[in-house]
Amino acid sequence: MEKIKIVGIGGSLTENSNSLFALEYALRGAAELGAETTLFDIDKLNLPMYDTRINHVPPMAQAMCNAVAQAHGLIWCSPLYHGTISGAFKNALDWLELLSNHTPKYLTNKVVGLVSTAGGVQGLQAINTMEFVVRALRGWTVPVTVAIARAWQIFDEKGNLQDPAIEKQLYLLGKEVVLGSRRFAQVEV
Ligand SMILES: Cc1cc2nc3c(=O)[nH]c(=O)nc-3n(C[C@H](O)[C@H](O)[C@H](O)COP(=O)(O)O)c2cc1C
Repeated sequence: MEKIKIVGIGGSLTENSNSLFALEYALRGAAELGAETTLFDIDKLNLPMYDTRINHVPPMAQAMCNAVAQAHGLIWCSPLYHGTISGAFKNALDWLELLSNHTPKYLTNKVVGLVSTAGGVQGLQAINTMEFVVRALRGWTVPVTVAIARAWQIFDEKGNLQDPAIEKQLYLLGKEVVLGSRRFAQVEV
């Protein structure tokens, strides 16, 4: 069978981004099951605001969309900003509009795992928002989600996780995305 490709999108416009660290752990979980993983860091993507009037697609937006189109599964990770996903993360998702003319459209037959980091304990709000987007883009979310509360206590400045239970959850989520992606890859659609 073709190697399963998993694309991670996440992080934030900050140094030592907790959401980027969390995404890296989840992608490692996916890699442990043999997946080929690619990470798109929101900070490095440096995308302009999505604008319907553009006549020049930024190369990084195109690269992200090409990778998403090739991927079997995705892992998204946003920080919780004011009770929802961050603007920078949502802007990256808006650029997936480039896949509106792709066949199949958007995230059809792709599996998505959702992770958030929060300063407080309401990270599930970002997960729920992301789930709306996945459904709007015709994707399928996996049952496991990881909403990391008080993320500033959980990661050190090098991105090492201080909590083995959360590490286990992130790896599990990464693996579940691979397992779900394999199922879709086996079924003729
Ligand atoms: C503009 C802004 C808004 C935030 N809003 C919330 C919030 O509503 N609830 C919360 O628990 N944490 C909030 N936080 C804290 C972040 O969710 C938390 O620090 C997160 O781990 C940041 O991830 P990052 O390091 O990847 O940027 C906010 C942080 C910023 C900068």
